[in-house]
Amino acid sequence: MSETQNTVDKRIDGKAVAAGLRKEIAEKVKVRRDKGLPAPGLAVVLVGEDPASRVYVGSKVKACEEVGFLSRNYHLSVDTSEAELLSLIDELNADDAIHGILVQLPLPEQIDVQSVIERINPHKDVDGFHPYNLGRLAGKAPTLRPCTPYGCMRLLSAYGIDPMGKKAVVIGASNIVGRPVALELLMARATVTVCHSKTQDLPAELADADIVIAAVGIPKFVKGEWLKPGAVVIDVGINRNEAGKLVGDVDFDAAYDRVSAITPVPGGVGPMTIACLLQNTLEACEAIENA
Ligand code: GUN
Repeated sequence: MSETQNTVDKRIDGKAVAAGLRKEIAEKVKVRRDKGLPAPGLAVVLVGEDPASRVYVGSKVKACEEVGFLSRNYHLSVDTSEAELLSLIDELNADDAIHGILVQLPLPEQIDVQSVIERINPHKDVDGFHPYNLGRLAGKAPTLRPCTPYGCMRLLSAYGIDPMGKKAVVIGASNIVGRPVALELLMARATVTVCHSKTQDLPAELADADIVIAAVGIPKFVKGEWLKPGAVVIDVGINRNEAGKLVGDVDFDAAYDRVSAITPVPGGVGPMTIACLLQNTLEACEAIENA
């Protein structure tokens, strides 16, 4: 890449912000250890062999170990019954060394996702998916917050971007990202529009959006010309293109010329999701101790 004078880097460096947060967490773990307190403990449960899930789970376990957490990894076979998974969750709920429980999604079809989410003790629900934690977020009194939305908000904050009074458009209405990030933006006092597959005219919705959160799961779905000049773009998508390369939901090169700031893929939201999982596990541990 050639460097020219006055070139402003519009990239939001999620890798760097996440590294900063992980360092802070590692220091707090060290202080705990020096005081004789136990390390925060995270249990990560993977059911089946989904290749992307295996990669994500591997990154989560590694990140835990790097900050000094206790990490326990449970890899169950693809034909695990719902009763077996619920029984493991019961054990982990009762285990005092474990402060966070994460069941990687998606789950095989014989298992009802909602039953699994609701079985996790909400105080150990470091994904923030339990109705208790989602309800707290909806009521502007967040407890454990979904990691990817929390990561998006921390990125905006790290770059001094305050959503208050801005028009924010969320593309995607999933339980994991779209819905909770809309609640986060609303709590930050943005004017929030949530678009999804039935939205009639997405370019029209985006035309005056100051902040765009793209969480659709389709490579380069958002075109550069749909964006308002100067918009801030947070790209949550992690997709593989035909060549096997990781790409986001936004056509990055086309968007780059128009926006004021944009997250790359990889190196944007992804590292923040993992750092926020660590943050949640630390918060869960402290909250359980102080209960
Ligand atoms: N699958 C994709 N994203 C997530 C996440 O944030 N948490 C869990 N548990 N599963 C996921």
